[in-house]
Formats: sequence, structure tokens, C-alpha cells
Amino acid sequence: MAETATQLSTDLSYKRIVVKPIAGALGAEIEGVDIAKGVDAETQDEIYRAWLENNLIFFRGQSISPAQQVAFARRFGEIHLHLFNKAMDDYPEITELLKTPDMESNAGGRWHSDQMYTPVPAKATMLYSREIPEGRGDTMFSNMYLAYETLSEGMKASLQGLKAIHNGDSRNHPSGKTRMERVQEGTIHMPQINPGEAQTISTHPVIRTHPETGRKLLYIGGHTEKFDGWTEEESTPLLDYLKAHATRPEFTCRFHWTENAMAFWDNRCCQHFAINDYNGYQRRMHKIMIKGDAPF
Ligand code: SIN
Repeated sequence: MAETATQLSTDLSYKRIVVKPIAGALGAEIEGVDIAKGVDAETQDEIYRAWLENNLIFFRGQSISPAQQVAFARRFGEIHLHLFNKAMDDYPEITELLKTPDMESNAGGRWHSDQMYTPVPAKATMLYSREIPEGRGDTMFSNMYLAYETLSEGMKASLQGLKAIHNGDSRNHPSGKTRMERVQEGTIHMPQINPGEAQTISTHPVIRTHPETGRKLLYIGGHTEKFDGWTEEESTPLLDYLKAHATRPEFTCRFHWTENAMAFWDNRCCQHFAINDYNGYQRRMHKIMIKGDAPF
């Protein structure tokens, strides 16, 4: 049997759930779980193992309320609140990503890892689809372990010990504008809040060790501005190379949403990209993040 077919076959080591990889690089669909009915401890342990092994997992056909989504997320840790995006009035744990037919920009339309610009970035994100434009609005993910492992030994050695600076509100955004500039011109997708005294620019190692798997990975993304101690001019050529390398097609998967599906990804070892191919249609998602720890 071809190697790819073997890799993509269902993992039979699971007893409570069915784990079906969707690509060679990362991502698996989970069957046998009904979040609304509740998840016992053994099933939760298997879900967590599948999550660590596949970087991200998906559940389809989950009819859950916002309160059930919050309760499910809390089983995996405390809730990490977004520093800039306003939460729902009734559910301070959830941000609603709503793109209406009259909007052009979307949220998350570039490769990034959630909250990388905070000193303790979000460990995980749970994104639930409430309204999906049929056949559109997929999300892509990329595997940062593979991005690291496929670098040359020379590049790995050069990056070891290097740190990068990540900025939550720079002109690094595809629009070339800050959040406030986009608020003023009415092109920002989400209602914004003032982060107050919270730290929105942070420095983290470029080669990060995953605290649970112990594997090394490349930790850069759309919010990465420059290397610590380097100028932007010095940083940009290498950063551009690493950003392109990290998202090579063979390191990615693409999730085709259906309504009432849940994606649950590990921000420590994935980047994601929300594809904006649905102008004129509506897409509505509920997002919850889970607290992580300081990268090392
Ligand atoms: C995001 O969290 O960046 C948004 C992802 C999506 O809406 O697909």
C-alpha cells in the first residue's frame, strides 16, 4: 500500500473515538463524539491524545449552544480572552467572527498563530461554525513541527537561541494599517476593545519546544515583525523566507466547513489562515481560546 494511504487510514489505537487524518501533514476528523451529550474522562483523554498527535482535530455535526461550547472548552483549560476583539455580550468567553454579505475583509485572513504577541499566548483555539457559505470560507492550517524539521542543519543552528518580536497591532497586517486606522476607515472586521495596560508586543524564541510533546518547532507567524536585536531591514529577508517555508503546501491541510462543525487546534504548533473567498455571503463562527504557557 502507498505510504500516503497508510498515513491517512483510521488510527486503530483509539478505543472510544475514531480518528481519521485529513492530510499527510496534520489534521484529523474525530467521530464517535457528541459534545452536547457529554464526554466521559476516557473519551476526553483520547480526544486530547488525538489533538497532540495531529496538531488539530475536527468534529462535525455537533449541535451545541454557546454555553455548551464554553463548558467543553473549559474541560481543556482556562479561557484566554482576546486582547483586541470584543467578546459577545452574553458570553465573555466567546468572540463572534461575523462576516456579513456587505463586508469585504475577514478576520484571520493571513497565516498566524493566535495571540502570539502576548507574553503567554493562547495554547488552543476552538472554532465552531454557526453559519457557513456553502462551498466557501475554508480554513487552512500548517504544521510548525514539519516547518522546523525540514530546515537545513545550518539554518536550525543559526536560528537556535534567536528570538523574534511579535506585534498585535503593527502595519504588518495585509492592509498595511493599524487596527485603529482600520476602525477609523470602517474596514476592520470585528468590534474592537482597548487592551489597556495589557502587553501587546512580546518576544519569544524562534525555535520553540512544545511543552507537552517535547518536539521542537518553528514559532513565527503573521504578527512577527523582526528578530530581537536586529533591524527590520535585516530581519525581513530571512523572515520572509521562513514565513514562506512554514506554509509550504505539503505542510498544510484545508478544512472544508459544514455548519455545526468544530475545529480545535494547537496554536503552539500550527498556523492557520481563514480564506476570504465569500464576498456577498455570510459566515458566522464562535471562537474560544484556551490559556497556554510562556514559550521556551
Ligand atoms: C481565526 O481564528 O483566525 C479565524 C479562522 C476562521 O474564521 O476560519
